[in-house]
Amino acid sequence: MKCTRCRQKAVVALPSHTAGFCAPCYLVYFERQVQRAIKERRLFKPEDKIIIALSGGKDSLALASQLKSLGYDISGLHIDLAIPESSPTAREHVEKFCDSRAIPLFVLEMKKQGLAIPKVKSRIKRPVCSICGKIKRYYLNKLAMDKGFTALATGHNLDDETARLFSNLFSWNEAYLGDQGPYLPEENGFVRKVKPLYRLSEFETASFCFIAKINYCLAPCPYSRGASFSFYKTLLDELEHRQPGRKLSFYEGFLNKGQKAFAMLNEERGITPSPCRECGYPTSEDICGVCRVKSMLADSG
Ligand code: AMP
Ligand code: FES
Ligand code: ZN
Repeated sequence: MKCTRCRQKAVVALPSHTAGFCAPCYLVYFERQVQRAIKERRLFKPEDKIIIALSGGKDSLALASQLKSLGYDISGLHIDLAIPESSPTAREHVEKFCDSRAIPLFVLEMKKQGLAIPKVKSRIKRPVCSICGKIKRYYLNKLAMDKGFTALATGHNLDDETARLFSNLFSWNEAYLGDQGPYLPEENGFVRKVKPLYRLSEFETASFCFIAKINYCLAPCPYSRGASFSFYKTLLDELEHRQPGRKLSFYEGFLNKGQKAFAMLNEERGITPSPCRECGYPTSEDICGVCRVKSMLADSG
């Protein structure tokens, strides 16, 4: 196969775009997809102060590398979850990456907050992933707000986004559907949240890291076996295999035709968050989810 841009030998084939690219042209393709996402969805402007949530995995490191080379004002934030099997190596990858590219980095240690994930897991009966996600979102938002960042970027890719959309549609979760998308505006104590990689698949971010020589963490979280969206990802991979390009058209179709209707429903029902009685974090209840976890841990000793 020949490169679609320069006719040299292609090293990455992309059936979804009926295209193939050599290594240098692939980097151009990747950059253009990110720029297109930023422009079409008005994610942020050059004057924005962006904090990138860095897990150490391929997606968030690819995102940081790309935004840095586009000249955006970026910093990194890593949440150290204190999971012995995966956290030390994830943190090391993030620290080395930021060091080598002079990207300012914040690290928040959940152990210091009394929220080491193995401890949380040992005190609850249901899977820890949803509480872990809640804790991560809380601290990502808190630091972004406290330090005056204007946007929080995550490495969610097209596979993450379509699997979540499919799952929310299957359960007709109107509230989640109204909130889903690569852009959530700043409001009610929440920082603006953006997902500049939403046009790119997992394969595409992995290929980017390979070509750009980005060393990323491969250690999976030991608790994420059977993670909630993995079944939907498998189903959608089969669909994509038979009909290349369907994931992107499904997601863009939702953003262009469906999302607004659900967002309006949410607005009509109007639940405006108010500050948590304990910590001031915006919540729709009296006490926020993280403070409830903390008090549950304190009660159970
Ligand atoms: P995941 O839910 O693990 O697929 O992660 C989705 C995105 O959340 C990643 O691309 C990161 O931007 C962010 N993220 C996940 N885990 C962490 C972490 N421990 N610290 C900072 N950001 C994270
Ligand atoms: Fe949170 Fe696995 S990363 S439970
Ligand atoms: Zn609280």
